[in-house]
Amino acid sequence: MPFDSLSRVAKGQSGLWMRGTTGLRYGGDYNPEQWPLEVWVDDIALMKDAGINLVSLGIFSWVLLEPREGEYDFAWLDKLFDMLHAAGIDIDLATPTAAPPAWFWKKYPAARPVTRDGVRLAGGSRGLVSPSSPEYRRAAANITEQLARRYAGHPALVLWHVHNEYGAPISESYDDYSVAAFRLWLQKRYGTLPALNEAWGTPFWGQCYGEWDEIDAPRLSASVTNQTQRLDFKRFSSDALLECFINERDTIRRFTPEIPVTTNFMATNCLSVDYWKWSREVDIISNDHYLVAERADNHILLAMDADLTRSLAGGSPWILMEHSTGAVNWQPRNIAKRAGELARNSLSHLARGADGILFFQFRASRYGAEKFHSAMLPHAGAGTRAWREVVELGATLGCLEPIRTSRVHARVAILWDVESFWAQDLEWRPSVELDHRERIEAFYSVLWNRSVTIDFAHPAAELGGYDLVIAPSLYLLGPASAANLATYVNGGGTLLMSYFSGIVDEQDAVYPGAAPGALRDVLGLSIHEFLPLRDHESVSLSDGRFGTGWADDIQVSTAEVVARYVDGPAAGSPAITRNTLGSGSAWYVSTRLAGAGLEALLGEVLTSVGIESTSTPGIEVVTRTSDHGDFTFVINHTDIDADYTAFGIELTTGDTISGSVLVPAGLTRVVRGVPTEA
Ligand code: GLA
Repeated sequence: MPFDSLSRVAKGQSGLWMRGTTGLRYGGDYNPEQWPLEVWVDDIALMKDAGINLVSLGIFSWVLLEPREGEYDFAWLDKLFDMLHAAGIDIDLATPTAAPPAWFWKKYPAARPVTRDGVRLAGGSRGLVSPSSPEYRRAAANITEQLARRYAGHPALVLWHVHNEYGAPISESYDDYSVAAFRLWLQKRYGTLPALNEAWGTPFWGQCYGEWDEIDAPRLSASVTNQTQRLDFKRFSSDALLECFINERDTIRRFTPEIPVTTNFMATNCLSVDYWKWSREVDIISNDHYLVAERADNHILLAMDADLTRSLAGGSPWILMEHSTGAVNWQPRNIAKRAGELARNSLSHLARGADGILFFQFRASRYGAEKFHSAMLPHAGAGTRAWREVVELGATLGCLEPIRTSRVHARVAILWDVESFWAQDLEWRPSVELDHRERIEAFYSVLWNRSVTIDFAHPAAELGGYDLVIAPSLYLLGPASAANLATYVNGGGTLLMSYFSGIVDEQDAVYPGAAPGALRDVLGLSIHEFLPLRDHESVSLSDGRFGTGWADDIQVSTAEVVARYVDGPAAGSPAITRNTLGSGSAWYVSTRLAGAGLEALLGEVLTSVGIESTSTPGIEVVTRTSDHGDFTFVINHTDIDADYTAFGIELTTGDTISGSVLVPAGLTRVVRGVPTEA
């Protein structure tokens, strides 16, 4: 099973953490190179007022540090290091390699990235360089080495921030260097051309290759390009970026092996890199998260993102590297955060395992593309609500210091594999209604409203510790992952799977026989025909539920029928089934359930695995545990005060709680309970 490797399963990081403070980390990106020195002095004083103890420096400062190739100017950064250190503020130093200087682009034009439709992109912005360009890799390693040599041993340096958001805004380049590197990557993966031709199914539409150099990147073509080639190019592109990261990380480690290295992920929001694979290469997981401002449930999506981040960290503490105090500047309508939202967002990340909260950015820019982006210190200065909330949050984090290193435990996991997104999102699928992310969000939201804590897991990961594993529309499922799910169910686990799952292997080839080829025995059924529904069509089920979007014509073998279709194209066919296998069971839901239907089904499945939960919409409850106590976060996202049953000490007020804690509308309470029995 060479392609379904357990190497994509997070193993946790190196264990290195930032030296220095014993408290939670607090701060943000700091770009003082945009400001005169007197502003730096004011900024640092304000940072002290807010309790800031960590800032990220130099993220886009390559040209300021190396104004001409091989000529360096570190004077401004030296000064900043010393000023921050004197104020007791630690530094997360970036390598500036997401923004190569103008001299680089002029001298090395072949490193400019090329889009799928053949446009060669210019510099003058930031983001992707051809990741396979030897000139880029050499120049990136060089500036990284200069920084590492210079600041190794500086007491303020506690973390390295390599590059910025690998994979965004684009992750693929179709330039000549990338095409050559892609061919080598394919040779490594397949060994021989016949093996590649078989894996890509090239006899279809007459696409067989006789020489390696006939293979190109999957450029835009007249019709649909070979889909396995597309999938492999996505894998290759993620790997090429990862090589760039490792190139810089290993350079850094030669000089500062004691300082952890991170790069900022965008957990659920960057589907172009395979973070399970990446997470094994960083010392500390860090994540950037921005609300989808207009969505009323954006706090639920935030929680989902934080849960995936914690899962990528293998449960270890992580840091929120960026979020915003208010509006961003890149959404269609940039809605400002309302009073208290900044704190609720921050505490939700903390509740879900973060040990540090940072923002983009400390001081709002006056010029450039991000001048309308919020900041800790807005244009209007320190007399603002935003700044007051920043200062209050700093004080709250001080009160929450005891939670550091405590962990979140989940009994339920949702399967997450970016390869399944990649494959399912290619063209010519049975219906535009098939949407992996929509299903994940639907299941996650119901569980969030029931305060059920969720981990995310790769389908090939060890799942034995979970009472329930949910697979929402997991289209691509390799044989090893399928075998892993079978082992999990056989061993007593409960699997809940929704439609269009386990359909293809890692080559995007349909498994032989009836769908879902990877899981027929686990689910105890066969699908004879997919029956996509029309827009706005709904079907009724025998248990009173309704489905939309999709239906299957199902023949059960060993599964029991929980509900049948009453009408629609699958009338009479089973709609929801449950199969007993070994000492576990596997549920299958063949249509898109929503609202009360999904809510009731999940309630039933949770009860079957002994998880009691009730729906409390708008109230977020998560517990972090440790051997020095449990910390229950109750975050009230509603405009009505709520009571929550608790015993212990409330950390932000110091109140003793004996039976019930009042959580005022829009606020958060964190109750430290009694230590967990060993
Ligand atoms: C990303 C980037 C930052 C900044 C923010 C703005 O997260 O990493 O540099 O552009 O977006 O939201």
